[in-house]
Amino acid sequence: MCGIAGYIGERNAPEILFDMLKRLEYRGYDSAGVAYFAHGRILVSKDRGKVNDIRKNLNLGRESKLGIAHTRWATHGEPSRENSHPHSDCNSQFTIAHNGIIENYKELREGLIERKHRFLSETDTEVIPHLIEEFYSGNFESAFVKAVKKLRGSFAIVAISKSNPDMILLARKESPLIIGLGDGENFIASDTPAVLPETRRIIILDDLEYGIVKKNSVTIKDLETGDEIKKEIREIEWDIEEAEKEGYEHFMLKEIFEEPNAVRNALNGINKTEEIAGKLKNFNRIYFVACGTASYAALVAKYLLERFGIPSEAIVGSEFRYSTVNSLGSDCAVIAISQSGETADTIASVKEARKKLAYVTSVVNVVGSSLTRISDDVIYTYSGPEIAVASTKAYLGQLVSLTLLCLSLAREKGNINEQYMNEILDDLHKIPDKIRQVLDNEGEIKKLAEKLKDKKIFFYIGRRLNYPTALEGALKIKEISYVHAEAYPAGELKHGPLALLEEGVPVIAISPNDDLKEKMESNVQEARARNATIIMVGEDGDLRVPVCDPLLSPILYIVPLHLLAYYISTAKGLDPDKPRNLAKSVTVE
Ligand code: F6R
Repeated sequence: MCGIAGYIGERNAPEILFDMLKRLEYRGYDSAGVAYFAHGRILVSKDRGKVNDIRKNLNLGRESKLGIAHTRWATHGEPSRENSHPHSDCNSQFTIAHNGIIENYKELREGLIERKHRFLSETDTEVIPHLIEEFYSGNFESAFVKAVKKLRGSFAIVAISKSNPDMILLARKESPLIIGLGDGENFIASDTPAVLPETRRIIILDDLEYGIVKKNSVTIKDLETGDEIKKEIREIEWDIEEAEKEGYEHFMLKEIFEEPNAVRNALNGINKTEEIAGKLKNFNRIYFVACGTASYAALVAKYLLERFGIPSEAIVGSEFRYSTVNSLGSDCAVIAISQSGETADTIASVKEARKKLAYVTSVVNVVGSSLTRISDDVIYTYSGPEIAVASTKAYLGQLVSLTLLCLSLAREKGNINEQYMNEILDDLHKIPDKIRQVLDNEGEIKKLAEKLKDKKIFFYIGRRLNYPTALEGALKIKEISYVHAEAYPAGELKHGPLALLEEGVPVIAISPNDDLKEKMESNVQEARARNATIIMVGEDGDLRVPVCDPLLSPILYIVPLHLLAYYISTAKGLDPDKPRNLAKSVTVE
């Protein structure tokens, strides 16, 4: 994620750009910056922090009619002033802002350093202005196109040059970019909400297109051939809030639909998980610590390690910090998991663990968050900003990172054979498409939610790796639908909770196609005999999921349960994005 903006016209560019950034902040908010043309120079103001704080501290001037801006969600390099965008070349002639990931930045950077370019940040982005500088021989557009063609990965880029204060150049591949058409002025943004207060007429840039935006004209061309492309002008009817949700009714639904991407992004962390596994193998005891949804990802990891004969514990932060910590020592490794990286109980657990000289690695979504700063190592999940209070896509990111970590550790210990490992990794790469198939079944899940919406109690049962799936399914429905939900290891039903089952009580049974399927079937029979309403989640279940390796089933099987919770909440007329009594980051004890 990250949000980028551009303005060219007759009004004060920095002011307009900061207004646009504010509306893009949902795409990233760890740092922000603006670059504008004034008095024959490009001035850059940027810093770590939220858009409003940065705006207060910056002297924006009133002389500029042209500029670009950026709000950042860190990927390469921690949030800091140096890593904030915009970035410039050696002579501050070209300045750019970028959203996306430049996969070949290391080799480009090395080549540029050999040619005496000076870099000021750790970002992948900074190679772009230097490449433009390298190719420049009097024609900004041609140097820009040559530079962009060198990039591999994904990008949305806006660029300005101090020699061409009448234009902004832009290009796109796999990261969104739109142009808002004004009267004697034009706007560029990552997303429609940023321009809606100014104009409702937009052009959407497609992949491998670039553009030249002037105050009275917009020209779009094909990046490969340079041919001009005639683009459709769209009239936007959404209001700003609808536009931020990209047409989804709620952020939660949008984020559930981003789950395939969350998996893909976490898969990119494989080198890091291998590196950490190499360190973990030297410790005698491994502890996972986390809160809420993240603690269920921790529990999945514990079951995964057990599958490969490696003992570990998974404990919630509020217990770990006061109890588990007493038994820690320098032979212990602690793996802390958190979307926000700001959860007080998880942070306190890590601080206590470090006092006992334990090694700590964290699995975190928000780059540069407090947890990352107190850990020895960090594995980022790169799930992108999660706005809805109830965690969904971040959970999938955590599951994937932890699965990679556990598999690598099993390999380090010689407890998994190479062929099986490769088969699982292959299957893992197919999970995003399989999630998409589950999401395509949204209509059926919505119908089921309608039928279940007035139920007063829900049971979720699962075994082994999918006991945590049951816990997560139940937590989601509690949080956003305010109904009582119990999650049990399926074999435990008969030890008490069965007494609560009566006609029509929904029992959601998570049943992957593994060696415990028959046992699960027996547990389901126990509930069926009490006339409970059974909803099977499985390959041939009521909530259908595609075939996958049972070890990966927690990643796939939670998706219909996220959708089910969402649709039960909306069927009850509730707002799933803002559940009562809850906050997104629990920074207090
Ligand atoms: C549930 C939920 C919470 C969080 C928990 C930990 O939907 O969002 O249970 O999972 O508060 O938060 P992080 O992962 O930010 O540490």
